[in-house]
Amino acid sequence: MTKALQMKLACDDTGILSAMQEPPAGYKGLSGFHKYWGKKPTEAWRFLIANLTERNDIVLDPFLGSGLIARECIDLQRRFVGFDINPISIELTKFYLGLPNYKDLRNAIEKIEKNLKSIINKMYLLPNGSIATHFLWERDQITKIWTKNGRNRVEVSLNWDEIERFQNIPQYKPKSLRDLHLFDNSRINAKESFSLADLFTPRALYAIDLLKEEIEQFDGSTKRALLLVLTSSVGQMSNMVFAISKRGKTKGKEIDRIEVGSWVIGYWRPEQHFEINAWNCFENKARKLLKAVKESGEQKQIYISDTITDLLRGNGRTYISLGDSEFLLKYIPSNTIKVILTDPPHGDRIPYLELSEIWNSILATDSNYADELVISNAKERKKDINNYNKKLNLILAECFRVLVDNGLIAVMFNARSNDHWNSLNELNKIYKFDYIGCYPMEYSACSVVQDNRKGGLKTDFVLLYGKNISESSKRDITNTFKNIQGWSTKYPRGA
Ligand SMILES: C[S@@+](CC[C@H](N)C(=O)[O-])C[C@H]1O[C@@H](n2cnc3c(N)ncnc32)[C@H](O)[C@@H]1O
Repeated sequence: MTKALQMKLACDDTGILSAMQEPPAGYKGLSGFHKYWGKKPTEAWRFLIANLTERNDIVLDPFLGSGLIARECIDLQRRFVGFDINPISIELTKFYLGLPNYKDLRNAIEKIEKNLKSIINKMYLLPNGSIATHFLWERDQITKIWTKNGRNRVEVSLNWDEIERFQNIPQYKPKSLRDLHLFDNSRINAKESFSLADLFTPRALYAIDLLKEEIEQFDGSTKRALLLVLTSSVGQMSNMVFAISKRGKTKGKEIDRIEVGSWVIGYWRPEQHFEINAWNCFENKARKLLKAVKESGEQKQIYISDTITDLLRGNGRTYISLGDSEFLLKYIPSNTIKVILTDPPHGDRIPYLELSEIWNSILATDSNYADELVISNAKERKKDINNYNKKLNLILAECFRVLVDNGLIAVMFNARSNDHWNSLNELNKIYKFDYIGCYPMEYSACSVVQDNRKGGLKTDFVLLYGKNISESSKRDITNTFKNIQGWSTKYPRGA
């Protein structure tokens, strides 16, 4: 454990970790390297792990998401079991558990650069010999082309024929990605008919295909890291990067400036959008990851057990599996887990698999839409609140079964309407979970996704329950948590 972390974990007189009273630091370095929807701050996990578990305890999270919780558990010498239905989530978790060796990653990036940079850049080669960094599109017309002179952006003027050459390129069908599978969902601007060709230019698709094929030649943690570099950079390679118009003054003159936005969430294709040089997008992310891996220092590879039985027998420190938790939890024997820390999909804000479709198409893995726990506006999916509540109940019933007596479950949750709180509200009634209390969670609202509170209360809550919990354990936990600002033994309410 680093010194800084030890200091953050130092308890004050009342046993409360001071870290919880401070705003989270945000997602930097490794934790900020890849986008994931609904990421929770690592401080929040660290706090729960440190307060509710002891060294070598097994922590279970049936809704892994970004996988940051797994890394926190391992750093604090706990064992960990995690599931998620989203393939990208499992790749991210395995990445955090087995970071690539810095030199191997650097050599791999250099090799990719040697083999592909000039091939990809040829597609952006301008008549003056420079390489285009950005095309600004208005519908299907290129209206501006930028290149770079040193660090400065330079606009290049081309005649109509020259522009045509960049604008009208034949379609390209990628060989190494699987086709998109989306649904009509106006909330995220998705259409069932969308193919990769609707979201990327043929130029970008060709570059992505080349990069994917090149990455396939590596193996182990280097290959996984490179694939994640690719998935993390494709948003910026797409036709979904909006343009920001700004009015400003230069040397007293009024000027209109256009800045490059970013791909944020969903499948909105702005009429005015940027196409960014695909090599630059990949290289930027690769350099950022390389820096983060270097800063994280020498890392031990964490042995991931082949089966849950292996882990329970003491072989390995983690077990990670892709799939539906309702099904996977059945492999865990009853009364074996001391603590579950989890953050299920809440309310109707984030259709995880639909939003991750481009990433999963690059990984060439199928999306198991049928078993996802979610409320989706895509009517075809028939994922409404009733079947959400039913499924969450079944999963929580399994959680109850696998917990030992006096075992604890901390659930992060946020929903605006009381209907959405129902599954949790029912917990004490149906499964005899004892409700201990809840507290609001400091949130690093660094992204539009996190900040988009339509369908959510302002803050997330952490709700604590126990299984057949003794009065003395309940008292101990209450004494630890009651000094957190906002701690309450009442239930949070929807609006
Ligand atoms: C709120 S997110 C978790 C975010 C995570 N705590 C983090 O900090 O990144 C909920 C997760 O549940 C997953 N999920 C949805 N249905 C599932 C199911 N049936 N089984 C397992 N995971 C599921 C989603 O893919 C998503 O990653």
